[in-house]
Amino acid sequence: MAPNDTTATEVSLPPYTPGFGRRPPVVAGRDALVDDLSRVLEVGPEHPRFCRALIGGRGTGKTVLLDVIGEVASKKLGWAVLHVQALQEESLVAVLLERMPEALKPWGRLGRGARDLQVELSVGVNLGVLAAGATLQRGHSAGIVSPAAAFEDALSRVGAFAAAHGTGLLVTVDEAQAAPAEDLSALARALQTVVARRLQPVAVVFSGLPSFRERLAGAGTYASRLPVEEVWSLDPSAARLALVGPAARRHVAWEDEALELLVRRSAGHPYYVQLFGWHAWEAAEGEATITLAHAKAGLASARAELAGQYEATWARLRPQERAYLAAVASLAGAGSAGIDEVAKALGKEPKQLAVARDRLLHMHGLLEVPERAKVRFADAEMAGWAARRPEARMAGSEQREELSPPAPERSAGRAARKGAPSKDAEAARRRRAGAERPRGLGR
Ligand SMILES: Nc1ncnc2c1ncn2[C@@H]1O[C@H](COP(=O)(O)OP(=O)(O)O)[C@@H](O)[C@H]1O
Ligand SMILES: [Mg+2]
Repeated sequence: MAPNDTTATEVSLPPYTPGFGRRPPVVAGRDALVDDLSRVLEVGPEHPRFCRALIGGRGTGKTVLLDVIGEVASKKLGWAVLHVQALQEESLVAVLLERMPEALKPWGRLGRGARDLQVELSVGVNLGVLAAGATLQRGHSAGIVSPAAAFEDALSRVGAFAAAHGTGLLVTVDEAQAAPAEDLSALARALQTVVARRLQPVAVVFSGLPSFRERLAGAGTYASRLPVEEVWSLDPSAARLALVGPAARRHVAWEDEALELLVRRSAGHPYYVQLFGWHAWEAAEGEATITLAHAKAGLASARAELAGQYEATWARLRPQERAYLAAVASLAGAGSAGIDEVAKALGKEPKQLAVARDRLLHMHGLLEVPERAKVRFADAEMAGWAARRPEARMAGSEQREELSPPAPERSAGRAARKGAPSKDAEAARRRRAGAERPRGLGR
């Protein structure tokens, strides 16, 4: 049964990768974007899109994209690559400084100069910044070099070396919305000097939730002018390829109707494509063709799994955050609710809820801002789930008189911008440590 090139364990698992940051066997629908990124890196720092930001909801495939771009930069262009993931409670600049020497190892082939640079950077980091435990604000006092200045200095050396040796450094910053504001400003200032002014080949590609746009706008001129591109859901032909491609490698076919159902119900959202594919595969129990009946059974079990994930997410929230979500769900379902309206429903002033709202938007990524002073669920599926919870039904019954009914089911177009259910900072740390679960459970 097992094709010769796979092991027994691989064969026992479906060939889909529901989860976060998990590279699927077929990266569908991203060729044009990857080609563009690669071409722009080749053109060099003169290109206006040399540094850029990719934004999209959870599960739209940003982390996978960064991984693919990193691979292109390293294999095709021979560049050094540094992938980092921003965390709220950690200085991004300190992490970049700390990990820079290791990332430059591939430049070892360029001779002694590269090794000297690595040593200089390591020494600089140890002396100047991390050992002092300095934060960006504290660093300016007491005569020690500030982390921001140390970072600009390090990036300048790296840029000069790369320019002199016809190579480059690609830095990818994932979950960039979580980066502390002062780190973002420091990074932008260094890029302004190294990339914009000196035209040295150090490219930074950020990826983040839609709320990252605001963060960039507040991080100085260079950051606010950075090109921002949205990572969209897969179009129907790419979603079909994401389902059919991995199955074909295992000599399994998809019935057209089965495929159409999952493509439609996922609206091309990469995480859902993988999750539904996984469950349909399991429902088929090793048959050579995945049929409509398998797809329907798969959808049902995928939904049950999603409900479990929402439950786990809910349990991690603070009471006020739950109350906030319940109010949004009861007021608007998957549609958008005014922040004044939500506050009123909770008997508070909007500013009393600012912390909860902020965490739901920026840390958990469970809400998004479709327009000024409004919020909505980032995941329409979760909105429906939350609206059925007792908290939301209670809140709803108190307001039903004066407020409009929940929004109807999301349309495919709207769903295309939706994120899959969120994870919190703890989950982010787990992922960074490389701990991956075989499926998308318990984010
Ligand atoms: N181009 C793609 N084709 C098929 N599946 C994808 C693609 N990009 C991502 N995925 C899948 O989508 C899910 C989310 O991907 P991820 O990169 O973690 O999203 P994000 O970083 O935007 O939250 C994972 O299950 C991943 O395997
Ligand atoms: Mg990601």
